[in-house]
Amino acid sequence: MKRSFLVLALVLASAVPGLAAGDAARGASIFTKCRACHATGEGAQNRVGPQLNGVVGRPAGSAPDYNYSVAMRDAAAGGLVWDEANLAQFLSKPRAFVPGTKMAFAGVTSPDDVANIIAYLASFPAPATP
Ligand code: HEC
Repeated sequence: MKRSFLVLALVLASAVPGLAAGDAARGASIFTKCRACHATGEGAQNRVGPQLNGVVGRPAGSAPDYNYSVAMRDAAAGGLVWDEANLAQFLSKPRAFVPGTKMAFAGVTSPDDVANIIAYLASFPAPATP
């Protein structure tokens, strides 16, 4: 029994090449932690935190009409653009990556969960500008 499970696991792992990369569907369920403060998808509005459509590739502190902390505005002025690498650092420890941020969230401890959330965020492109 144990052995056939192992064989099945090996077959599955080799059949799904992208397994190590983030899984957007899993990210969606982990994003429930973020949803108290952040919206994504069509018609997303700023809430406690800025709306996150198109955030992968977006300059930090750039959601229109959102009142960022001085810390995030300083990071933006320093040229911070969100990519997968720095989002991973920010989401793991927000206050270590942007000291003084007003994002009141301790961070996501599991690197897999971080990758899954980033894959989820990457599935929401920025809305086309009129
Ligand atoms: C308690 C509310 C809260 C929670 C929970 C929260 N955030 Fe935030 N988030 C904020 C606030 C407030 C800001 C603005 C930070 C600032 O201006 O310093 C922010 C900023 C951000 C930014 C930077 C956006 C930009 O436009 O520069 C990202 C990315 C982000 N949050 C992602 C997440 C993700 C992903 C989660 C869940 C793992 C999460 N946040 C959980 C409140 C929250």
